[in-house]
Amino acid sequence: MSEQTQDGRREPLILTIFGATGDLAHRKLLPALYHLVAEGRLPEETRILLVGRRDLDNESCRADAQAAVRRYSRTEVDDEKLSGFLKLLRYHRMEFISQPESYRGLHSFLTHEEQGLHGAAVRLFFLAVAPEHFAPIVQNLHDKGLVEKRNPSHRVMIEKPFGSDLETARALNRTISQALNEKQVYRIDHYLGKEMIRNILAIRFANSLFEPLWNHHYIDNIQITSFETLGVEGRGGYYEQAGILKDMLQNHLMQMLALITMEPPVDLMPESVRDEKVKALRSLRRFEDAPSCGGIVLGQYGPGQKDGAPVPGYREEEGVDEASKTPTYVALRAQIDNFRWGGVPIYIRAGKRLDRARTQIVIEFKRLPGVNFYKEFESQPANLLVIEVQPAEGMYFRINLKRPGTDFNMERVALNYAQHSRFAGNVPEAYEQLLLEAYRANSSLFTRWDELEYSWRFIEGIETHCPADRGAFPNYAAGSRGPEAADRMIALDGRRWWDIELPCDGNS
Ligand code: BG6
Repeated sequence: MSEQTQDGRREPLILTIFGATGDLAHRKLLPALYHLVAEGRLPEETRILLVGRRDLDNESCRADAQAAVRRYSRTEVDDEKLSGFLKLLRYHRMEFISQPESYRGLHSFLTHEEQGLHGAAVRLFFLAVAPEHFAPIVQNLHDKGLVEKRNPSHRVMIEKPFGSDLETARALNRTISQALNEKQVYRIDHYLGKEMIRNILAIRFANSLFEPLWNHHYIDNIQITSFETLGVEGRGGYYEQAGILKDMLQNHLMQMLALITMEPPVDLMPESVRDEKVKALRSLRRFEDAPSCGGIVLGQYGPGQKDGAPVPGYREEEGVDEASKTPTYVALRAQIDNFRWGGVPIYIRAGKRLDRARTQIVIEFKRLPGVNFYKEFESQPANLLVIEVQPAEGMYFRINLKRPGTDFNMERVALNYAQHSRFAGNVPEAYEQLLLEAYRANSSLFTRWDELEYSWRFIEGIETHCPADRGAFPNYAAGSRGPEAADRMIALDGRRWWDIELPCDGNS
Protein backbone atom coordinates (compact mmCIF):
# COMPACT_ATOMS: atom_id res chain seq x y z
CA MET A 1 0.00 0.00 0.00
CA SER A 2 1.81 3.10 -1.12
CA GLU A 3 0.49 6.53 -1.84
CA GLN A 4 3.84 8.35 -1.90
CA THR A 5 6.19 8.77 -4.79
CA GLN A 6 9.94 8.37 -4.19
CA ASP A 7 10.42 12.08 -3.58
CA GLY A 8 7.85 11.96 -0.78
CA ARG A 9 4.94 13.49 -2.69
CA ARG A 10 1.65 11.71 -2.81
CA GLU A 11 0.84 10.07 -6.12
CA PRO A 12 -1.51 12.21 -8.23
CA LEU A 13 -5.09 11.01 -8.46
CA ILE A 14 -7.53 11.07 -11.34
CA LEU A 15 -10.90 9.93 -10.11
CA THR A 16 -13.54 9.27 -12.76
CA ILE A 17 -17.11 8.87 -11.58
CA PHE A 18 -19.57 7.18 -13.92
CA GLY A 19 -23.15 8.15 -13.08
CA ALA A 20 -22.03 11.48 -11.72
CA THR A 21 -25.41 13.15 -12.09
CA GLY A 22 -27.19 10.46 -10.08
CA ASP A 23 -28.45 10.26 -6.55
CA LEU A 24 -25.45 8.49 -5.03
CA ALA A 25 -23.03 11.04 -6.43
CA HIS A 26 -25.10 13.91 -5.10
CA ARG A 27 -25.94 12.55 -1.67
CA LYS A 28 -22.72 10.73 -0.83
CA LEU A 29 -19.79 11.02 -3.23
CA LEU A 30 -19.56 14.75 -3.82
CA PRO A 31 -19.94 15.67 -0.12
CA ALA A 32 -17.39 12.98 0.77
CA LEU A 33 -14.93 14.28 -1.81
CA TYR A 34 -15.46 17.84 -0.64
CA HIS A 35 -14.46 16.80 2.89
CA LEU A 36 -11.45 14.83 1.74
CA VAL A 37 -10.21 17.77 -0.31
CA ALA A 38 -11.04 20.36 2.36
CA GLU A 39 -9.09 18.34 4.95
CA GLY A 40 -6.14 17.86 2.62
CA ARG A 41 -6.48 14.09 2.65
CA LEU A 42 -6.21 13.66 -1.10
CA PRO A 43 -3.00 14.52 -2.98
CA GLU A 44 -2.36 18.10 -4.07
CA GLU A 45 -2.68 16.86 -7.64
CA THR A 46 -6.22 15.54 -7.68
CA ARG A 47 -8.57 15.69 -10.65
CA ILE A 48 -12.19 14.63 -10.47
CA LEU A 49 -13.88 13.77 -13.70
CA LEU A 50 -17.66 13.52 -13.60
CA VAL A 51 -19.01 11.36 -16.40
CA GLY A 52 -22.69 11.44 -17.27
CA ARG A 53 -25.12 11.22 -20.13
CA ARG A 54 -26.74 14.59 -19.45
CA ASP A 55 -25.83 17.56 -21.56
CA LEU A 56 -23.88 19.66 -19.05
CA ASP A 57 -20.76 21.77 -19.24
CA ASN A 58 -18.15 22.28 -16.52
CA GLU A 59 -19.93 25.32 -15.18
CA SER A 60 -23.38 23.80 -14.80
CA CYS A 61 -21.92 20.60 -13.41
CA ARG A 62 -20.04 22.60 -10.76
CA ALA A 63 -23.23 24.47 -9.87
CA ASP A 64 -24.94 21.12 -9.43
CA ALA A 65 -22.10 19.81 -7.31
CA GLN A 66 -22.10 22.96 -5.21
CA ALA A 67 -25.81 22.54 -4.44
CA ALA A 68 -25.27 18.87 -3.55
CA VAL A 69 -22.40 19.60 -1.16
CA ARG A 70 -24.33 22.40 0.55
CA ARG A 71 -27.35 20.17 0.97
CA TYR A 72 -25.69 16.97 2.13
CA SER A 73 -22.42 17.99 3.82
CA ARG A 74 -22.04 16.63 7.37
CA THR A 75 -20.43 19.90 8.49
CA GLU A 76 -21.03 23.56 7.82
CA VAL A 77 -19.57 24.32 4.41
CA ASP A 78 -16.53 26.57 4.17
CA ASP A 79 -17.04 28.76 1.06
CA GLU A 80 -13.39 29.09 0.24
CA LYS A 81 -12.73 25.38 0.55
CA LEU A 82 -15.81 24.62 -1.49
CA SER A 83 -14.69 26.84 -4.31
CA GLY A 84 -11.24 25.15 -4.22
CA PHE A 85 -12.96 21.79 -4.45
CA LEU A 86 -15.22 22.81 -7.33
CA LYS A 87 -12.18 23.83 -9.37
CA LEU A 88 -11.04 20.19 -9.39
CA LEU A 89 -14.21 19.04 -11.12
CA ARG A 90 -14.54 18.51 -14.86
CA TYR A 91 -17.59 17.20 -16.68
CA HIS A 92 -17.37 14.73 -19.53
CA ARG A 93 -20.51 13.80 -21.40
CA MET A 94 -20.64 10.38 -22.95
CA GLU A 95 -23.03 7.60 -23.86
CA PHE A 96 -21.10 4.99 -21.94
CA ILE A 97 -23.42 2.10 -22.79
CA SER A 98 -24.81 2.71 -26.26
CA GLN A 99 -21.61 4.12 -27.77
CA PRO A 100 -18.55 2.03 -26.92
CA GLU A 101 -16.53 4.27 -29.24
CA SER A 102 -17.02 7.13 -26.81
CA TYR A 103 -14.42 5.50 -24.52
CA ARG A 104 -11.76 6.65 -26.95
CA GLY A 105 -12.72 10.26 -26.22
CA LEU A 106 -12.51 9.53 -22.49
CA HIS A 107 -9.12 7.95 -23.01
CA SER A 108 -7.75 11.05 -24.74
CA PHE A 109 -9.30 13.25 -22.07
CA LEU A 110 -7.60 11.30 -19.26
CA THR A 111 -4.28 11.11 -21.05
CA HIS A 112 -4.39 14.84 -21.59
CA GLU A 113 -5.14 15.44 -17.89
CA GLU A 114 -2.35 13.10 -16.86
CA GLN A 115 0.19 14.89 -18.99
CA GLY A 116 -0.26 17.97 -16.85
CA LEU A 117 0.59 16.04 -13.65
CA HIS A 118 3.90 15.23 -12.01
CA GLY A 119 4.31 11.52 -12.48
CA ALA A 120 1.95 8.64 -13.16
CA ALA A 121 -1.45 9.06 -11.58
CA VAL A 122 -3.61 6.62 -9.74
CA ARG A 123 -6.55 6.07 -12.10
CA LEU A 124 -9.58 5.35 -10.00
CA PHE A 125 -12.93 4.67 -11.65
CA PHE A 126 -16.09 4.75 -9.55
CA LEU A 127 -19.13 3.03 -11.04
CA ALA A 128 -22.15 4.76 -9.49
CA VAL A 129 -24.45 3.40 -12.19
CA ALA A 130 -27.25 0.85 -12.52
CA PRO A 131 -25.88 -2.66 -11.83
CA GLU A 132 -26.53 -3.90 -15.36
CA HIS A 133 -23.96 -1.35 -16.54
CA PHE A 134 -21.06 -2.63 -14.39
CA ALA A 135 -19.92 -5.35 -16.79
CA PRO A 136 -20.06 -3.34 -20.05
CA ILE A 137 -18.26 -0.39 -18.47
CA VAL A 138 -15.44 -2.54 -17.08
CA GLN A 139 -15.17 -4.37 -20.38
CA ASN A 140 -14.92 -1.10 -22.32
CA LEU A 141 -12.44 0.43 -19.91
CA HIS A 142 -10.26 -2.58 -20.51
CA ASP A 143 -10.78 -2.95 -24.25
CA LYS A 144 -10.12 0.71 -24.96
CA GLY A 145 -7.00 0.72 -22.81
CA LEU A 146 -8.22 2.94 -19.96
CA VAL A 147 -7.34 0.25 -17.44
CA GLU A 148 -4.57 -2.27 -17.90
CA LYS A 149 -4.87 -5.62 -16.23
CA ARG A 150 -2.20 -6.02 -13.53
CA ASN A 151 -1.43 -2.29 -13.39
CA PRO A 152 -1.93 -1.66 -9.64
CA SER A 153 -2.49 2.06 -10.24
CA HIS A 154 -5.60 1.33 -12.29
CA ARG A 155 -8.48 0.55 -9.94
CA VAL A 156 -12.24 0.23 -10.25
CA MET A 157 -14.72 0.79 -7.42
CA ILE A 158 -18.01 -1.04 -7.90
CA GLU A 159 -21.19 -0.25 -6.04
CA LYS A 160 -23.61 -2.87 -4.85
CA PRO A 161 -25.57 -4.91 -5.78
CA PHE A 162 -22.88 -7.19 -7.18
CA GLY A 163 -25.17 -9.50 -9.15
CA SER A 164 -28.77 -10.30 -8.41
CA ASP A 165 -28.15 -13.90 -7.37
CA LEU A 166 -25.28 -16.36 -7.21
CA GLU A 167 -25.37 -17.06 -10.94
CA THR A 168 -25.40 -13.43 -12.12
CA ALA A 169 -22.78 -12.48 -9.52
CA ARG A 170 -20.53 -15.23 -10.90
CA ALA A 171 -21.10 -14.05 -14.48
CA LEU A 172 -20.30 -10.44 -13.51
CA ASN A 173 -17.20 -11.58 -11.71
CA ARG A 174 -16.04 -13.55 -14.74
CA THR A 175 -16.25 -10.44 -16.94
CA ILE A 176 -14.48 -8.33 -14.36
CA SER A 177 -11.71 -10.81 -13.76
CA GLN A 178 -10.96 -10.97 -17.47
CA ALA A 179 -10.33 -7.23 -17.39
CA LEU A 180 -8.77 -6.74 -13.97
CA ASN A 181 -6.87 -8.53 -11.24
CA GLU A 182 -8.70 -9.07 -7.96
CA LYS A 183 -6.39 -6.46 -6.38
CA GLN A 184 -7.63 -3.83 -8.84
CA VAL A 185 -11.29 -4.37 -7.91
CA TYR A 186 -12.84 -2.51 -4.96
CA ARG A 187 -16.33 -3.90 -4.34
CA ILE A 188 -18.15 -1.52 -2.09
CA ASP A 189 -20.07 -2.39 1.01
CA HIS A 190 -20.42 1.02 2.56
CA TYR A 191 -21.04 -0.50 6.00
CA LEU A 192 -17.37 -1.46 6.10
CA GLY A 193 -16.56 2.25 6.09
CA LYS A 194 -18.70 2.97 9.16
CA GLU A 195 -16.75 3.93 12.24
CA MET A 196 -18.14 1.40 14.70
CA ILE A 197 -17.92 -1.43 12.20
CA ARG A 198 -14.26 -0.63 11.68
CA ASN A 199 -14.01 -0.59 15.46
CA ILE A 200 -15.06 -4.26 15.76
CA LEU A 201 -11.49 -5.38 15.16
CA ALA A 202 -10.24 -3.13 17.95
CA ILE A 203 -12.99 -4.11 20.38
CA ARG A 204 -12.30 -7.80 19.82
CA PHE A 205 -8.54 -7.92 19.52
CA ALA A 206 -7.26 -5.02 21.59
CA ASN A 207 -9.09 -5.86 24.83
CA SER A 208 -8.10 -8.70 27.09
CA LEU A 209 -11.51 -8.33 28.71
CA PHE A 210 -13.34 -9.52 25.60
CA GLU A 211 -10.97 -11.62 23.51
CA PRO A 212 -10.88 -14.68 25.82
CA LEU A 213 -14.66 -14.61 26.29
CA TRP A 214 -15.52 -14.44 22.60
CA ASN A 215 -16.83 -17.98 22.17
CA HIS A 216 -19.60 -20.44 23.03
CA HIS A 217 -18.30 -20.93 26.58
CA TYR A 218 -19.24 -17.39 27.60
CA ILE A 219 -21.61 -16.00 24.99
CA ASP A 220 -25.26 -17.01 25.02
CA ASN A 221 -26.32 -15.36 21.79
CA ILE A 222 -25.48 -12.57 19.38
CA GLN A 223 -27.99 -10.17 17.84
CA ILE A 224 -27.34 -8.05 14.78
CA THR A 225 -30.03 -5.53 13.92
CA SER A 226 -30.37 -2.94 11.18
CA PHE A 227 -33.69 -1.13 11.24
CA GLU A 228 -34.77 1.87 9.20
CA THR A 229 -37.77 4.17 9.42
CA LEU A 230 -37.44 4.93 5.71
CA GLY A 231 -39.38 3.07 3.06
CA VAL A 232 -38.09 2.32 -0.42
CA GLU A 233 -37.77 6.04 -1.21
CA GLY A 234 -38.65 6.02 -4.90
CA ARG A 235 -36.58 2.87 -5.60
CA GLY A 236 -39.58 0.54 -5.85
CA GLY A 237 -38.50 -0.86 -9.23
CA TYR A 238 -35.08 -1.89 -7.91
CA TYR A 239 -36.44 -3.07 -4.57
CA GLU A 240 -38.96 -5.39 -6.19
CA GLN A 241 -36.01 -7.40 -7.53
CA ALA A 242 -33.86 -7.11 -4.43
CA GLY A 243 -36.04 -7.17 -1.34
CA ILE A 244 -34.47 -7.07 2.09
CA LEU A 245 -32.51 -10.29 1.54
CA LYS A 246 -30.45 -8.91 -1.33
CA ASP A 247 -30.57 -5.26 -0.37
CA MET A 248 -29.32 -5.61 3.21
CA LEU A 249 -28.75 -9.20 4.34
CA GLN A 250 -26.51 -10.43 1.53
CA ASN A 251 -24.07 -7.57 2.03
CA HIS A 252 -24.20 -5.31 5.10
CA LEU A 253 -25.49 -7.83 7.63
CA MET A 254 -23.31 -10.68 6.36
CA GLN A 255 -20.27 -8.42 6.66
CA MET A 256 -21.11 -7.51 10.25
CA LEU A 257 -21.68 -11.17 11.04
CA ALA A 258 -18.32 -12.13 9.52
CA LEU A 259 -16.39 -9.48 11.46
CA ILE A 260 -18.04 -10.41 14.75
CA THR A 261 -17.57 -14.17 14.40
CA MET A 262 -14.30 -14.62 12.45
CA GLU A 263 -11.20 -16.13 14.02
CA PRO A 264 -8.38 -13.70 14.89
CA PRO A 265 -6.53 -12.93 11.63
CA VAL A 266 -2.76 -13.46 11.49
CA ASP A 267 -2.37 -9.70 11.16
CA LEU A 268 -4.52 -6.77 10.15
CA MET A 269 -3.53 -6.81 6.49
CA PRO A 270 -6.49 -6.87 4.08
CA GLU A 271 -5.99 -10.42 2.85
CA SER A 272 -5.55 -11.85 6.35
CA VAL A 273 -8.80 -10.26 7.54
CA ARG A 274 -10.68 -11.31 4.40
CA ASP A 275 -9.39 -14.90 4.69
CA GLU A 276 -10.92 -15.15 8.15
CA LYS A 277 -14.18 -13.53 7.08
CA VAL A 278 -14.52 -16.05 4.28
CA LYS A 279 -13.97 -18.93 6.72
CA ALA A 280 -16.74 -17.59 8.96
CA LEU A 281 -19.13 -17.24 6.01
CA ARG A 282 -18.28 -20.75 4.83
CA SER A 283 -19.16 -22.11 8.27
CA LEU A 284 -22.59 -20.54 8.18
CA ARG A 285 -25.25 -23.25 8.28
CA ARG A 286 -27.35 -22.99 5.14
CA PHE A 287 -31.10 -23.00 5.20
CA GLU A 288 -31.27 -25.96 2.85
CA ASP A 289 -29.69 -27.99 5.68
CA ALA A 290 -32.19 -26.77 8.29
CA PRO A 291 -34.99 -29.16 9.21
CA SER A 292 -37.61 -26.42 8.76
CA CYS A 293 -38.06 -22.72 8.07
CA GLY A 294 -38.89 -22.06 11.73
CA GLY A 295 -35.70 -20.02 12.04
CA ILE A 296 -36.73 -17.28 9.63
CA VAL A 297 -39.50 -14.70 9.52
CA LEU A 298 -40.10 -12.53 6.49
CA GLY A 299 -42.30 -9.47 6.45
CA GLN A 300 -43.64 -6.70 4.29
CA TYR A 301 -44.99 -3.37 5.51
CA GLY A 302 -48.54 -2.29 4.94
CA PRO A 303 -49.91 1.26 5.25
CA GLY A 304 -49.16 3.00 8.52
CA GLN A 305 -47.66 6.15 10.03
CA LYS A 306 -44.37 7.98 10.05
CA ASP A 307 -43.87 11.01 12.29
CA GLY A 308 -47.61 11.18 12.83
CA ALA A 309 -48.46 11.30 9.10
CA PRO A 310 -49.95 8.43 7.08
CA VAL A 311 -47.57 6.61 4.74
CA PRO A 312 -48.42 4.03 2.07
CA GLY A 313 -47.76 0.33 2.34
CA TYR A 314 -45.03 -1.25 0.25
CA ARG A 315 -47.52 -2.46 -2.36
CA GLU A 316 -48.70 1.12 -2.88
CA GLU A 317 -45.17 2.45 -3.53
CA GLU A 318 -44.29 3.55 -7.06
CA GLY A 319 -42.91 0.76 -9.23
CA VAL A 320 -44.17 -1.99 -6.91
CA ASP A 321 -46.57 -4.75 -7.93
CA GLU A 322 -49.88 -4.47 -6.09
CA ALA A 323 -49.68 -8.16 -5.14
CA SER A 324 -45.94 -8.07 -4.45
CA LYS A 325 -44.41 -10.82 -2.30
CA THR A 326 -41.11 -8.99 -1.91
CA PRO A 327 -40.01 -8.96 1.74
CA THR A 328 -39.07 -5.67 3.39
CA TYR A 329 -38.26 -7.31 6.73
CA VAL A 330 -36.28 -10.36 7.82
CA ALA A 331 -35.51 -11.90 11.18
CA LEU A 332 -33.54 -15.12 11.29
CA ARG A 333 -31.56 -17.43 13.49
CA ALA A 334 -28.15 -18.19 12.01
CA GLN A 335 -25.61 -20.68 13.19
CA ILE A 336 -21.87 -20.73 12.60
CA ASP A 337 -20.89 -24.40 12.62
CA ASN A 338 -17.41 -24.33 14.07
CA PHE A 339 -15.83 -25.05 17.44
CA ARG A 340 -15.91 -21.42 18.54
CA TRP A 341 -19.60 -20.86 17.92
CA GLY A 342 -21.26 -24.28 18.01
CA GLY A 343 -24.64 -23.91 19.73
CA VAL A 344 -24.63 -20.08 19.87
CA PRO A 345 -27.58 -18.63 17.96
CA ILE A 346 -26.86 -15.53 15.96
CA TYR A 347 -30.06 -13.61 15.47
CA ILE A 348 -30.20 -11.19 12.58
CA ARG A 349 -32.91 -8.63 11.87
CA ALA A 350 -33.32 -5.96 9.22
CA GLY A 351 -36.29 -4.04 8.01
CA LYS A 352 -37.70 -0.92 6.44
CA ARG A 353 -40.44 1.41 7.69
CA LEU A 354 -40.14 0.46 11.33
CA ASP A 355 -40.76 2.58 14.39
CA ARG A 356 -37.03 3.14 14.96
CA ALA A 357 -33.84 3.54 12.97
CA ARG A 358 -31.01 1.64 14.59
CA THR A 359 -28.06 -0.52 13.60
CA GLN A 360 -26.75 -2.34 16.59
CA ILE A 361 -24.84 -5.48 17.56
CA VAL A 362 -25.60 -7.01 20.95
CA ILE A 363 -23.47 -9.69 22.55
CA GLU A 364 -25.39 -11.35 25.36
CA PHE A 365 -23.09 -13.17 27.76
CA LYS A 366 -24.13 -16.28 29.64
CA ARG A 367 -25.50 -15.81 33.10
CA LEU A 368 -23.61 -17.10 36.10
CA PRO A 369 -24.94 -20.35 37.47
CA GLY A 370 -27.26 -19.93 40.45
CA VAL A 371 -25.29 -20.67 43.65
CA ASN A 372 -27.23 -21.53 46.76
CA PHE A 373 -25.27 -19.31 49.15
CA TYR A 374 -25.50 -16.18 46.98
CA LYS A 375 -29.23 -15.57 47.22
CA GLU A 376 -28.67 -11.81 46.85
CA PHE A 377 -27.36 -12.34 43.35
CA GLU A 378 -30.05 -14.65 42.18
CA SER A 379 -31.57 -13.94 38.76
CA GLN A 380 -29.22 -11.15 37.81
CA PRO A 381 -29.66 -10.15 34.19
CA ALA A 382 -27.03 -11.14 31.65
CA ASN A 383 -24.10 -8.87 30.88
CA LEU A 384 -24.56 -7.21 27.53
CA LEU A 385 -22.03 -5.66 25.23
CA VAL A 386 -23.70 -3.34 22.74
CA ILE A 387 -21.93 -1.94 19.70
CA GLU A 388 -24.04 0.85 18.31
CA VAL A 389 -23.31 1.62 14.68
CA GLN A 390 -26.03 4.24 14.17
CA PRO A 391 -27.74 6.60 14.82
CA ALA A 392 -25.47 7.01 17.85
CA GLU A 393 -21.94 5.65 17.56
CA GLY A 394 -20.60 4.02 20.64
CA MET A 395 -20.36 1.09 22.96
CA TYR A 396 -22.29 0.16 26.01
CA PHE A 397 -21.51 -2.53 28.56
CA ARG A 398 -24.17 -3.60 31.02
CA ILE A 399 -23.07 -5.06 34.32
CA ASN A 400 -24.63 -5.78 37.73
CA LEU A 401 -23.52 -3.88 40.84
CA LYS A 402 -24.66 -3.20 44.36
CA ARG A 403 -26.96 -0.22 44.65
CA PRO A 404 -25.53 2.39 47.09
CA GLY A 405 -27.16 2.17 50.53
CA THR A 406 -27.27 0.18 53.71
CA ASP A 407 -29.16 -2.73 52.16
CA PHE A 408 -27.55 -5.14 49.77
CA ASN A 409 -29.68 -4.53 46.69
CA MET A 410 -28.52 -5.04 43.16
CA GLU A 411 -28.89 -2.81 40.12
CA ARG A 412 -27.95 -2.85 36.46
CA VAL A 413 -25.34 -0.28 35.51
CA ALA A 414 -24.25 0.90 32.06
CA LEU A 415 -20.65 1.65 31.22
CA ASN A 416 -21.17 3.81 28.22
CA TYR A 417 -18.85 5.18 25.57
CA ALA A 418 -20.62 7.67 23.33
CA GLN A 419 -18.18 8.28 20.53
CA HIS A 420 -20.59 10.66 18.81
CA SER A 421 -20.48 13.04 21.81
CA ARG A 422 -16.69 13.14 21.88
CA PHE A 423 -16.20 13.57 18.17
CA ALA A 424 -19.41 15.37 17.19
CA GLY A 425 -19.27 16.33 13.50
CA ASN A 426 -15.73 15.00 13.15
CA VAL A 427 -16.42 11.44 12.23
CA PRO A 428 -15.94 10.88 8.52
CA GLU A 429 -18.81 9.47 6.50
CA ALA A 430 -18.36 5.92 5.20
CA TYR A 431 -17.76 7.08 1.63
CA GLU A 432 -14.94 9.41 2.67
CA GLN A 433 -13.12 6.47 4.15
CA LEU A 434 -13.85 4.22 1.21
CA LEU A 435 -12.64 6.70 -1.41
CA LEU A 436 -9.52 7.40 0.58
CA GLU A 437 -8.71 3.72 1.13
CA ALA A 438 -9.20 2.92 -2.55
CA TYR A 439 -6.73 5.71 -3.40
CA ARG A 440 -4.34 4.22 -0.84
CA ALA A 441 -4.83 0.74 -2.38
CA ASN A 442 -6.04 -0.57 0.97
CA SER A 443 -8.64 -3.16 0.11
CA SER A 444 -9.53 -4.18 3.66
CA LEU A 445 -12.72 -2.11 3.62
CA PHE A 446 -13.92 -3.77 0.42
CA THR A 447 -15.32 -7.23 -0.22
CA ARG A 448 -13.36 -9.92 -1.96
CA TRP A 449 -15.10 -12.12 -4.50
CA ASP A 450 -15.17 -15.25 -2.31
CA GLU A 451 -16.85 -13.35 0.56
CA LEU A 452 -19.62 -12.38 -1.82
CA GLU A 453 -19.88 -15.86 -3.23
CA TYR A 454 -20.51 -17.43 0.18
CA SER A 455 -22.97 -14.70 1.12
CA TRP A 456 -24.89 -15.31 -2.09
CA ARG A 457 -24.99 -19.04 -1.38
CA PHE A 458 -26.57 -18.36 2.01
CA ILE A 459 -29.21 -16.11 0.46
CA GLU A 460 -29.90 -18.62 -2.27
CA GLY A 461 -30.57 -21.28 0.37
CA ILE A 462 -33.19 -19.03 1.96
CA GLU A 463 -34.85 -18.12 -1.31
CA THR A 464 -35.15 -21.67 -2.54
CA HIS A 465 -36.06 -23.37 0.73
CA CYS A 466 -37.99 -20.69 2.59
CA PRO A 467 -39.44 -18.45 -0.12
CA ALA A 468 -41.27 -15.27 0.79
CA ASP A 469 -44.56 -16.38 -0.74
CA ARG A 470 -45.11 -18.72 2.21
CA GLY A 471 -46.47 -15.81 4.25
CA ALA A 472 -49.48 -13.52 4.04
CA PHE A 473 -48.20 -10.04 3.26
CA PRO A 474 -48.38 -7.30 4.42
CA ASN A 475 -47.79 -8.49 7.97
CA TYR A 476 -46.68 -5.34 9.75
CA ALA A 477 -47.82 -1.75 9.62
CA ALA A 478 -45.46 1.01 8.56
CA GLY A 479 -44.12 2.67 11.71
CA SER A 480 -44.66 -0.43 13.87
CA ARG A 481 -42.18 -2.71 15.65
CA GLY A 482 -42.29 -5.23 12.80
CA PRO A 483 -44.00 -8.62 12.45
CA GLU A 484 -45.04 -10.26 15.71
CA ALA A 485 -43.85 -13.58 14.34
CA ALA A 486 -40.26 -12.35 14.89
CA ASP A 487 -40.94 -12.03 18.63
CA ARG A 488 -42.50 -15.46 18.69
CA MET A 489 -39.52 -16.96 16.89
CA ILE A 490 -37.00 -15.82 19.50
CA ALA A 491 -39.38 -16.47 22.40
CA LEU A 492 -39.56 -20.11 21.34
CA ASP A 493 -35.79 -20.25 21.99
CA GLY A 494 -36.40 -18.83 25.49
CA ARG A 495 -34.80 -15.50 24.54
CA ARG A 496 -35.83 -11.95 23.63
CA TRP A 497 -34.71 -9.27 21.23
CA TRP A 498 -32.58 -6.50 22.63
CA ASP A 499 -33.25 -2.92 21.62
CA ILE A 500 -30.89 -0.83 23.65
CA GLU A 501 -31.20 2.92 23.55
CA LEU A 502 -27.69 4.25 24.03
CA PRO A 503 -27.59 7.01 26.65
CA CYS A 504 -26.45 10.15 24.81
CA ASP A 505 -24.69 11.88 27.69
CA GLY A 506 -21.08 10.99 26.98
CA ASN A 507 -19.10 8.58 29.11
CA SER A 508 -20.41 7.38 32.42
C1 BG6 B 1 -28.21 0.52 1.06
C2 BG6 B 1 -29.56 -0.05 0.72
O1 BG6 B 1 -27.19 -0.36 0.68
O2 BG6 B 1 -28.13 0.71 2.46
C3 BG6 B 1 -30.67 0.87 1.21
O3 BG6 B 1 -29.65 -0.20 -0.69
C4 BG6 B 1 -30.51 1.14 2.67
O4 BG6 B 1 -31.94 0.31 0.95
C5 BG6 B 1 -29.11 1.63 2.96
O5 BG6 B 1 -31.45 2.15 3.03
C6 BG6 B 1 -28.85 1.76 4.44
O6 BG6 B 1 -27.63 2.40 4.61
P1 BG6 B 1 -27.39 3.34 5.86
O7 BG6 B 1 -25.96 3.77 5.73
O8 BG6 B 1 -28.38 4.46 5.77
O9 BG6 B 1 -27.65 2.48 7.05
